[in-house]
Amino acid sequence: MKAWMLTLVSVVVGFGDIDTHFVPEPDDPVIAYARQPTTDPVAVLNREIEAGKVRLRFDGEQGYLRSALDALRVPIESQMVVFSKTSVQAQRINPQNPRTLFFNDSVVIGWVRGGFIEVAAQDPRQGVIFYVLDQTPVEKPQFMRHNDCLTCHNSSNAMNVPGMLVRSQFTAPNGTTMPWLGNYVSDHRSPLSERWGGWYVTGKTGAIRHMGNAVVTNGSNPESPVIDQTLHLASLAGRFDTNAYLSEYSDIVALMVFEHQMHMMNLLTRIGWQTRFLLRNGNAHDIKMNGLGDSAKDLVDYMLFVDEEPLLNKVEGTSGFVEKFSDEGPRDKRGRSLRQFDLEHYLMRYPCSYMIYSEAFEALPSEAKDAVYHRLWLVLSGAVTGAKYARLSRTDRQVVLEILRETKKGLPDYFAGDLTVSP
Ligand code: HEC
Repeated sequence: MKAWMLTLVSVVVGFGDIDTHFVPEPDDPVIAYARQPTTDPVAVLNREIEAGKVRLRFDGEQGYLRSALDALRVPIESQMVVFSKTSVQAQRINPQNPRTLFFNDSVVIGWVRGGFIEVAAQDPRQGVIFYVLDQTPVEKPQFMRHNDCLTCHNSSNAMNVPGMLVRSQFTAPNGTTMPWLGNYVSDHRSPLSERWGGWYVTGKTGAIRHMGNAVVTNGSNPESPVIDQTLHLASLAGRFDTNAYLSEYSDIVALMVFEHQMHMMNLLTRIGWQTRFLLRNGNAHDIKMNGLGDSAKDLVDYMLFVDEEPLLNKVEGTSGFVEKFSDEGPRDKRGRSLRQFDLEHYLMRYPCSYMIYSEAFEALPSEAKDAVYHRLWLVLSGAVTGAKYARLSRTDRQVVLEILRETKKGLPDYFAGDLTVSP
């Protein structure tokens, strides 16, 4: 959408509605997605390689993969394995030669045997930036930026900003998807029965059924492949040649955290961009008076796991991801952290996303941060009520506030207030 159309939209429909109409053009001068230099972790690493401060090692069949994970501080325990032909390297991917994804709070790295390394890194201001690293050993390898990835990664499935995608689809034995049988965008709100079509999943799920590890051989009955043998896998050994991979797991907890995080990242990019467009169009006063309407509300609801799909029973991972992830903290004086897991009733122990510590959150325009904090306080303090918020018990809200007060820099002063008192 062109800039003048946005001006028109914001004038005609006002704040509450602009969200659904907001389909920004990444190359609008206010963003300049393709032209503006970025400071995402891959851009930084590229400069360090160029300057000779970091060397990437090229090792065996995985080439630069292990070294790139190390350099970008992405844990191997986060490995997730996709076997559906759903990405830019689709033709190489199938259940015997699946694609692996690894992630931390700002970077996702993809690798498939015989292909190139794909990276999606969230720049604190510019959204997700896409890169390809060729698997050819050279002195100073560089991750090359690819804006053509936006053909899929800037779509309504990624909230109309350059962003992350997480899909679940019924998949045939050769890896081809069968979207007419089931085609879902997954985040922490999705029923588990609709998750992980086309993905391998290792871990225990008790009575919970999911679409992972299953292929559809009988198109007329898509549920038929989900059998006991496709649930509760301890390892992927035997499913494909796991010796050629860095890990034999596609950890269920890593998958659940990934799904939570990818949508959170898109929400953060989106509210930042929306604010920059509004400010350019002279709406600073309106933002101050009205906040950012539904955008701040939606972001805070998601950040507080308000509509999270509850777990029926205990879920257990296999790769050590749980320990790795929760060890990172930060913790308050009593040892509590937003990275602690629950895994019996919900994913996380305390219902507030650790992505509040991310650079993407920190780098939001101050108008956006003010609006988000204001809404966050209204919900955590108990001023916002109603069935939708019943999941957030008084104790949970209290503990989240206590953790934030000790661990989150730059909280507005009114976060020191008592519950049920609004600022
Ligand atoms: C044909 C559509 C398509 C194109 C083009 C595409 N991707 Fe993706 N990509 C996907 C889908 C769909 C997913 C979600 C995971 C899955 O289903 O395989 C994904 C996931 C990813 C992920 C994992 C993070 C996430 O968003 O879930 C990375 C990294 C990634 N793609 C990198 C790239 C890069 C780099 C390019 C360009 C060189 C690219 N992609 C182009 C469809 C595409």
